[in-house]
Amino acid sequence: MVDRLVVVGAGAVGSAVAWAAARERLAGEVVLVDPDPGSGASRVAGGMLAPISEAWPGEREVLELGAASLAAWPSFAARVASDAGRDVGLRTEGTLQVAVDAADVADLDRVAAHLAEWGRPVERLTGRETRRREPSLGPSVRAGLAVPDDLAVDNRELLGALGAAGSVVGVRSLARRVVRVLDDGARVTGVEFADGGVLEAERVVVAAGAWSGSLHPALEGRVRPVKGEILRVRARRTSLPPPSRTVRASVSGRPVYAVPRDGGRLVVGATQYEAGFDPDVLVGGVRDLVGDVERVLPGIADYALEESAASFRPGTDDNLPMLGPLGPSGLLAATGHGRNGMLLVAVTVSTLAAVLRGDALPAEARAAAADRSAVAPG
Ligand code: GLY
Repeated sequence: MVDRLVVVGAGAVGSAVAWAAARERLAGEVVLVDPDPGSGASRVAGGMLAPISEAWPGEREVLELGAASLAAWPSFAARVASDAGRDVGLRTEGTLQVAVDAADVADLDRVAAHLAEWGRPVERLTGRETRRREPSLGPSVRAGLAVPDDLAVDNRELLGALGAAGSVVGVRSLARRVVRVLDDGARVTGVEFADGGVLEAERVVVAAGAWSGSLHPALEGRVRPVKGEILRVRARRTSLPPPSRTVRASVSGRPVYAVPRDGGRLVVGATQYEAGFDPDVLVGGVRDLVGDVERVLPGIADYALEESAASFRPGTDDNLPMLGPLGPSGLLAATGHGRNGMLLVAVTVSTLAAVLRGDALPAEARAAAADRSAVAPG
């Protein structure tokens, strides 16, 4: 058997794991397999690296894992950029979370109280203070939370940089569709392609996002698609300037966000439905996104609508990803990242690199151990 590592899925997570494995020479050969690299959830992601503003009461382990990943992001980004010889599109302006009605303000206060309880205080602002920080916000904004440490990344710049960095360190890319991971009952033996061909491998990392569940029985039923739709808009010459920070809002209970990109662009997202693999962007989804974002950023009505897109977050039952070994020896998971794929790339890379080196799962990733259901008390 060759010392080959196959990574299934060339989204941000799979591309980053393959890059790190090849860079650290953690296998004789690293093969990244995807029929259409960078075409899944990574392509339509908002790119918020925002564990604090994504935090929900009760999801402390998700918050802690996200915070560990946020701390690792700047050095991860610098290493990728240095290998790739190009920028990854990291932004450091932070997040403003805003509310427009009394119920949304109450939600904002609840989140702020939980964060303070968990030792992660945020700055509570009045409507006027919020608008002073971000003049593109409209008069309906009644309150805000400032989260200056949040980062954001241009998902498409990151995908381009990871592809370039992977090539530089020797990742071999294969444009084929894997239909299952093969094993002999005890150990992984390789992957099978849609055309029946087989590639032998000692170790396989499944990083196929929402599509991961069908690749091996150990992953079946553990990851489900959670559909999301986004819009990409651009300020025109005559438009009000876009915000410089990520703006998140709860509008009549529905979450919406606008994440700045270069060139006066914003990614506006995202809807969230349990709708299987329905690929269509729905008119109702676009209506909700436009209506909700316009409540907080009224100038957006004059922006150009450049794109609408849908994809599928890889959801898990406990909203934690699945990282590391499970099932037969040599099978590794890097999937189930839910709403936090971009954020969790950095901690996923360090976790998978540790496992590939033969180390135990790092302490910060233990709650996300892929085989956690196997050790649940019965
Ligand atoms: N990370 C934001 C989303 O999934 O919509």
